[in-house]
Amino acid sequence: AMIGKGEYRHFMLKEIYEQPQVIGDTLNALFNPAERTITLPALPFALETVERVTIVACGTSYYAGLVARYWLESVARVPVDIDVASEFRYRAPPLQKGGLALFISQSGETADTLAALRHCKAQGLWCVAVVNVPESTMAREAHAVLPTLAGPEIGVASTKAFTTQLVVMAALCLALARARHAIDRATEARLSRGLAEVPARAAEVLKYDDALHALAQEVAEARDVLYLGRGTSHAVALEGALKLKEISYIHAEGYPAGEMKHGPIALIDETVPVIVIAPHDGLFDKTAGNVQEVIARGGRIILLSDAEGIAHVGAGVAHAVTLPVVDPFVAPILYAIPVQLLAYHVAVIKGTDVDQPRNLAKSVTVE
Ligand code: G6P
Repeated sequence: AMIGKGEYRHFMLKEIYEQPQVIGDTLNALFNPAERTITLPALPFALETVERVTIVACGTSYYAGLVARYWLESVARVPVDIDVASEFRYRAPPLQKGGLALFISQSGETADTLAALRHCKAQGLWCVAVVNVPESTMAREAHAVLPTLAGPEIGVASTKAFTTQLVVMAALCLALARARHAIDRATEARLSRGLAEVPARAAEVLKYDDALHALAQEVAEARDVLYLGRGTSHAVALEGALKLKEISYIHAEGYPAGEMKHGPIALIDETVPVIVIAPHDGLFDKTAGNVQEVIARGGRIILLSDAEGIAHVGAGVAHAVTLPVVDPFVAPILYAIPVQLLAYHVAVIKGTDVDQPRNLAKSVTVE
């Protein structure tokens, strides 16, 4: 059937607004809310045997993998190796037969990721595809599939595929943590509760659309924009910068907040908006220090945080968006939404072709 934009001006906006629903659909397929347990589709290997995870992807899907690295290492206590597909293959990394490799892809057709999958399969790794298109080549060739239930994504800039990839990776992380006895019951219950709340919180986050729209004009006037964050928020910063580049053509960089002093701080002046992704988590105070370093150099901070964070950040922040308080585990899923909305509104102000940005393709099936 033909997919329409409905009441929305662009597919991208429609897909952003579908997120509470499709995040819920993806979660419901993996999560039993009564028992708060994860049930993954059948896998041809035992999760407790996994000793290391290799993640390969491109573009936005790669940033979903970056978030998952933080989760898998800190929660499931499993070492993770991650790379973009075009580098992974040619690095010729030593691979352990029987190891687990995850290929994250909306389309399931990206040439570099598919080649990496074939390479890993030939090396005797278990290959699991996290894909949104169930009849895709990656889904067919992998040993197992963890589907994202985002539904067809038309906008070239990925939105709902990203947040549903995160949901699948969070569920996998909890299942792996349990299988490896890396997590106690109380922690598992807390993280599961946080995950179960994501669809409702995502709906709340969409209510900040007007607030983000109001900030878009200032960002649209910039030549360069810097996105900062630590931990999983670093991956969200990278994704925020990618969204802005893709659809508004404004130069943007995502950086780990603590690394700013080794380069990007030289760019800071009043013309460079600095968008800081900082839920009030264990790294907040460190990021707040970086915020003050930017302010001291005349930089204009746009802070995405919660009430606690905004109360503790100190003076001088130009704009703050107060997002709901959520468990830090699931914060990257929710903080992805405001960076999508901000990029969207900036692109609309600039008058670019939001759904079909120049030079980009939805699915890159050549190397
Ligand atoms: C292209 C798209 C991106 C996407 C990337 C990876 O660059 O424009 O939105 O993130 O490919 O695509 P995949 O289908 O493998 O997730």
